[in-house]
Amino acid sequence: MKTYRIALLPGDGIGRDVTEAAKAVLEKAAARNGFSLATTSYPWSCDYYLENGSMMPDNGIETLRSFDAILLGAVGWPRKVPDSVSLHGLLLPIRKAFVQYANIRPHRLLPGVQGPLRSENFDILCIRENTEGEYSGAGGRVHQGTDSEVAVETSIFTRQGVERILRFGFEQARARRGKLASVTKSNAQRYSMVFWDEITQRLSQDYPDVEVTSYHIDAMAARMVMAPDSLDVVVASNLFGDILTDLGAAIQGGLGFAASANINPDRSAPSMFEPVHGSAPDIAHLGIANPIAAIWSGAMMLEHLGETGAAGKVMAAIEATTARGIGANPGRDKTDAITASVLSALD
Ligand code: NAD
Ligand code: IPM
Ligand code: MN
Repeated sequence: MKTYRIALLPGDGIGRDVTEAAKAVLEKAAARNGFSLATTSYPWSCDYYLENGSMMPDNGIETLRSFDAILLGAVGWPRKVPDSVSLHGLLLPIRKAFVQYANIRPHRLLPGVQGPLRSENFDILCIRENTEGEYSGAGGRVHQGTDSEVAVETSIFTRQGVERILRFGFEQARARRGKLASVTKSNAQRYSMVFWDEITQRLSQDYPDVEVTSYHIDAMAARMVMAPDSLDVVVASNLFGDILTDLGAAIQGGLGFAASANINPDRSAPSMFEPVHGSAPDIAHLGIANPIAAIWSGAMMLEHLGETGAAGKVMAAIEATTARGIGANPGRDKTDAITASVLSALD
């Protein structure tokens, strides 16, 4: 029997609840489809930081490297550890070290879930650049604490980084409805974003079958709400993609529905699967976190591992659950009840 080695990073807050749900569903799907998951869980989190002074051990990245995939819950507990410390100590270094440059975030309405737009046609795929841009971490502060303090945060866009994410977006558009929306802010940001627009134009010649349109980020935010059915694949930089995908989640009916995959397309290192949402301190410990985003992310992991049949069955079980009204109204159903329904729909 084929066995995949999975590193589980539950992280903080509801990350623990939703990864437990996803693990149960994935293990059952594996057993039903003739393979198994050998899962090793690591307690790396803000609690771990408070005990050990770092978010993960020095050899954390090397430890993860040997796995077939990583399943992550959420990182961050700002009341105890500043986000700038926790996220730069765990989540962001993994994305970078493993060259998970393509962050795939599908946004579509699940059956039975009424998004706030009450539209039936909402199905877009956001492709977010995941290793550079506004998250490069370059910058600093001078004259700290004085009236003349200056803070600088430099966005770094490389030709290699922009080309590869745009090509990834073109390929995704080709496999879907043939439309690519490239998002920048080149009217205000005249270096990086003009550079991105130029590369988009040049690459479009290699994909004559894809209809490509460039939008400014502000107009795209409005379009996602006002005319979502004009969109297919949306490709954006790290920060813009981050913001658009919380908007996409909201249109889906809530953060608890939005899945994501941090993909290393070359397969030179493991990819990582995690919901779009965070640790949700406001609802942690209440048992009401929606696990669907995490379970869906798990289905994306099975797909990436080549277990397409099992991935499809997990998606069908999620859809059967929401179609019956379970999990369709955030805050009403308990995490355990939603998970139990997905598990029984796998039968
Ligand atoms: P959040 O996504 O944790 O929560 C935003 C809102 O959405 C909250 O009201 C929350 O209750 C709700 N929500 C989120 N997930 C839900 C779910 N599964 N079911 C039901 N409701 C859900 O964003 P935040 O409050 O800005 O961040 C909290 C912490 O998480 C911070 O430390 C932040 O940095 C971190 N964070 C981590 C990740 C990640 O690890 N990938 C992503 C986003 C935020
Ligand atoms: C996400 C999160 C992270 C990001 C934060 C927690 C650093 O918001 O995965 O969307 O911005 O990438
Ligand atoms: Mn985000």
